[in-house]
Amino acid sequence: MIKPDGVARGLVGEVIGRLERRGLKLVALKMTRLTRDQAVALYEVHQGKPFFSDLINFILQGPVILMVWEAPQAIQLVRNLMGALDPADALPGSIRGDLTTSRSMNVLHGSDSPESAQREINLFFHQDDLLTYRRCDEDWLYG
Ligand code: TYD
Ligand code: MG
Repeated sequence: MIKPDGVARGLVGEVIGRLERRGLKLVALKMTRLTRDQAVALYEVHQGKPFFSDLINFILQGPVILMVWEAPQAIQLVRNLMGALDPADALPGSIRGDLTTSRSMNVLHGSDSPESAQREINLFFHQDDLLTYRRCDEDWLYG
């Protein structure tokens, strides 16, 4: 998910471009404003933590881009492309390392396990929103 700061800063193309060029396949995409219930559901593992209410209010500030990306080991690829949460640890070359200095306004969310990806996809998409097709470079990418 591209967070409200990423949309407001005009970084949608930048983020999508990095994932596309790495070789992940975009299979679903939606621009929307989350409802409070959706935001709380997305971040339910963080309920009770000191940053939770600020996080929810931030995520509701503006529209977001919800996406599903596919690749072998997609979770780890995206986590690496995202970069670390702590700005001091986010390496140059990663999205956060190149584009952010904030621990909270950090451009994007990525699922952290196959189980959380399945849960988060189900929050925002129906099964028939996920499109099946071949990238023309698939044999090179996934060979
Ligand atoms: P987390 O899942 O730990 O990070 P990531 O986004 O890398 O998966 O935290 C979720 C979001 O919560 C994070 O992107 C920003 C916010 N957050 C804070 O604002 N302060 C914090 O100390 C932490 C841990 C998270
Ligand atoms: Mg997380």
